[in-house]
Amino acid sequence: MKLRVNKASPFARKARILTRETGLAGRVEEIETAVSPVTLNEDLARENPLVKIPALIADNGETFYDSAVICEYLDTLHSGRKLFPAAGPQRFAALRRAAVTDGILDAAVLCRYETAVRPEALRWKDWIEGQQRKIFGGLAMLEAEAPSWSSDFDIGHIGVACVLGYLDFRFPDREWRSGHPRLAAWYQNVLRRPSVSQTAPA
Ligand code: BEZ
Repeated sequence: MKLRVNKASPFARKARILTRETGLAGRVEEIETAVSPVTLNEDLARENPLVKIPALIADNGETFYDSAVICEYLDTLHSGRKLFPAAGPQRFAALRRAAVTDGILDAAVLCRYETAVRPEALRWKDWIEGQQRKIFGGLAMLEAEAPSWSSDFDIGHIGVACVLGYLDFRFPDREWRSGHPRLAAWYQNVLRRPSVSQTAPA
């Protein structure tokens, strides 16, 4: 299988962590792919009409996107501990956590593009502040939940690791640790997992 990734992308990182957690990494060739919201990557466009990464190309040529679908598909391909809990309250808690972290990442990547790509004269302060409220609203929810996580590591926790890593990478000045001590303690532990340390954004 081939997985189109970009080492800076927190969405691609979700799939990269999952392949390492599940022993699938040897079956997945990661292809570093340039992406920009304003420049068309024609190779990627043939594989994903939304021209986004990650995109997974299976051995039979079938293509999967977005990151949530790729992760759930990959989780069916191994016989170890599943990162998508099978049923019941645990499943929906994990899926909700994954949804919140995807929403935070959407807002964070949009903020990144707003400052790194959009011409300064076209930037809109109120819009950026609206996205930042989503980021910090989501972090507050995760901070409240964190004491119940113990040593679990499911698809939602992968999302949390990707969120915190991306905030460190692109928004170090926002100092997310201040005001989120439980998330900070949780993340310090999670950084010891090889799947997380090996996929740190670069
Ligand atoms: C980034 O450089 O922050 C980035 C790259 C790819 C996808 C999303 C974000």
